[in-house]
Amino acid sequence: MYNSRIAGLGAYVPENIVTNDDLSKLMDTNDAWIQERTGIKERRHIKKGDGNSTAKMGVKAATIAIERAGLTNKDIEMIVFATLSPDYYFPGCGVQVQHLMEMENIPALDVRNQCSGFVYALATADQFIKTGMYKNVLVIGAENHSGGLDFTTRGRSVSVIFGDGAGAAVLTREEDTTKGILSSHLHSQGEHALQLSLKGPSTEQWVPEIIETNPTEDIPYYPYMNGTFVFKHAVVRFSEVIKEGLAKNNLTADDIDMLIPHQANLRIAQFVQKKFGLTDDQVFNNIQKYGNTTAASIPIALTEAWEKGKVKEGDTLVLAAFGSGFTWASSIIKW
Ligand code: UT7
Repeated sequence: MYNSRIAGLGAYVPENIVTNDDLSKLMDTNDAWIQERTGIKERRHIKKGDGNSTAKMGVKAATIAIERAGLTNKDIEMIVFATLSPDYYFPGCGVQVQHLMEMENIPALDVRNQCSGFVYALATADQFIKTGMYKNVLVIGAENHSGGLDFTTRGRSVSVIFGDGAGAAVLTREEDTTKGILSSHLHSQGEHALQLSLKGPSTEQWVPEIIETNPTEDIPYYPYMNGTFVFKHAVVRFSEVIKEGLAKNNLTADDIDMLIPHQANLRIAQFVQKKFGLTDDQVFNNIQKYGNTTAASIPIALTEAWEKGKVKEGDTLVLAAFGSGFTWASSIIKW
């Protein structure tokens, strides 16, 4: 048995910055509300014609990650791609990455665990490396939310929160089993699937049915979120899954050098920070600049933290996420 470690990180966000004031021109919202409730100041949105898509942003992030790992595209033996906003209903983005990056005919797996997607993807890649099946696995989290949000007042409680972007990590074999990913903790509770969901078009409701029923209130092709319900579950599950990861490795909160929470809402991150008695230096947040980028949020934040020198060799890192499904997950990493 081996461990896996992150050998390279990369991130990409579209150039187009959308501020809270920009959104207030489209819907009844304002900078003060958005900042107070979520911490978000601005986010990035793909612009039509800027050449970006979920897969293509993933490729941009992956290119940086592979180079930083000191590898080439040919060294990658498997792709795991996490997104809730793939370019196509099918096939998934993984195969597009294989083609766009001119990789060998390696396996490409798509992970559909929304905000927890990156941690699930990382855990999946880790298993393939642990067993010795592969040495280098590319893990990507990318989202194009802006193409599918309701930018009228009706959709304001969801559409102000989400942003576009991508992050990637190259996982590589680590022979020293005291280093790298020490453990992963994954959970789900499908009972609450529809509390944060996008129902159609889907096999339950194809396009003709949507058009026929012409819903005015409950529009199934925009995401729905029961915000306060999700918030309440998020703070509990974040805390639980971090505790679970620490306990598994005989660690306490004092041992955490850096917590990278999924960037769901700054208030959630602050709640968790307080709960574990962590200082500002022990928790990395960048939701202020990018909004909630779902599966991309942890790898973008991790990349930025690493670029700023906030993640150093020997550090104990905790990644934690909660979101649609419900799903939640954590990863304990010795850098
Ligand atoms: O990443 C996956 C996991 N996602 C999360 O963890 C998100 C969890 N939930 C949240 O972050 C918060 O619930 C929100 C940020 C979505 C909403 O914050 P809230 O404090 O729960 O607000 P609320 O939904 O209770 O709405 C409060 C008021 C309502 O007006 P009334 O009924 O009090 O008159 C909303 O209509 O704020 C109104 N509102 C807005 N006002 C201005 C909702 N969205 C907006 C908006 N601008 N964008």
